Amino acid sequence: MKRISLTQHLIEQQRLHNKIPSELRLLIEVVGRACKSISHAVGKGALGEVLGSAGSENVQGEVQKKLDVISNEILLEANEWGGHLAAMASEEMETIHRIPNRYPKGEYLLMFDPLDGSSNIDVNVSIGTIFSVLKAPEGMTEPTEQDFMQPGTRQVAAGYAVYGPQTVLVLTTGDGVHCFTLDREMGAWVLTQKDIKIPEDTKEFAINASNQRHWFPPVKRYVDEMLAGSTGVRGKDFNMRWIASMVADVHRILNRGGIFMYPADAREPNKPGKLRLMYEANPMAFIVEQAGGAATDGTRRILDIQPEKLHQRVAVFLGSKNEVDLVTSYHQQ
Ligand code: AHG
Ligand code: MN
Ligand code: MN
Ligand code: MN
Repeated sequence: MKRISLTQHLIEQQRLHNKIPSELRLLIEVVGRACKSISHAVGKGALGEVLGSAGSENVQGEVQKKLDVISNEILLEANEWGGHLAAMASEEMETIHRIPNRYPKGEYLLMFDPLDGSSNIDVNVSIGTIFSVLKAPEGMTEPTEQDFMQPGTRQVAAGYAVYGPQTVLVLTTGDGVHCFTLDREMGAWVLTQKDIKIPEDTKEFAINASNQRHWFPPVKRYVDEMLAGSTGVRGKDFNMRWIASMVADVHRILNRGGIFMYPADAREPNKPGKLRLMYEANPMAFIVEQAGGAATDGTRRILDIQPEKLHQRVAVFLGSKNEVDLVTSYHQQ
C-alpha cells in the first residue's frame, strides 16, 4: 500500500483545487501534532498520572478532569507561536484566548473541545478532540468574542481525533471527509480512508435513553416508532448504541450509518440540548454534511444557525440523511 501522509494529502489537495492556503495547511498540521501529544498522554493512563479530576470547574459548571486541562494546554501551546491564528476558544476557557503579543498573528480563529467524552477517560473508553476553523472577519484588529459569532457555513476546516483502539484523525476542508490513522511507531498520520460517505438509510440510532421521560413529543414519537421494530410503522428492527463520547458515536455513524441525537428536553425550559454549537455541533455538522449526511437542531440546519454566545448549547440530530430528515419533519408537524 502506498502511504500518503497528512502533509502530502494536504499539499496535493492544495495543488488540485487551490483551496487550502498554506497558512490553513500549517494550522491543520499543528492541530494534528497536538492531537498526537494528547493521544500520547491518554495512552499513558494511570502510569502518566493523567486520570481523575483536576479539582476545578469550567465555565459551564462541569468538573474538569486532568485530561480536559492537559489537552487544552497542549492545544494552546502548539498553536500559539505558528503565526497562523488570531485567537482561540475552547470548552475549557471562559472567554477567548488571544495570541500573545510576542508572536505574529494570522487570519484564522480556532475553536476546540480539547477532550470530548470526559466521563469515559477513567474507564478506558474512546475519547477525542473536536476542532473548527473560521476566518477572522476582514479588518479585525484585536479579536473579540464577537468575531467568533459566525454561522457554521463559514467554517473553512473541521475535524476530530478519536483516541481509541487506534488513534484516528478525521478531517474536512469542504472537499469531502478523509480519515488518517496514527502510525504510532513513525509518529505519522497516514491516509486510510478517502471521501467517506454516510449511508442514507440506517437501522441504528444513538440517544441517551435515560432522559426519555423528559423528551418532547416529536422525539418520543420518533424513538417509539423505531423501538416498535419490524411490525411497527417503520417496518424494520433498529439497534441502539450510545458510547457517551460524541466523537466515537459520530465516528461509528461515519463508517456505517446511523443517527445521533442529543435533543432539547423539558427539564430546563428554554435550554436547548447539552452539546455546544461552536466546538461540538458545528464541526460535526460540517463533517457529516460533507459525508452526504444531514445535521439539524430539529427544525433548522445546524450550519445555518447564527451563534449568539461562545458556549451556546444546541439540540443535535445528525447522521444518515433520511433519518435526520424524518425526525426533523416530526418537529415541523
Ligand atoms: P464533553 O466530555 O466534552 O463535556 O462532552 C460530553 C458530551 C458528548 O461527548 C457526549 O455525546 C455527551 O456529552 C454524553 O452525554 P450524557 O452523559 O448525558 O450521555
Ligand atoms: Mn465537558
Ligand atoms: Mn464534548
Ligand atoms: Mn470536552
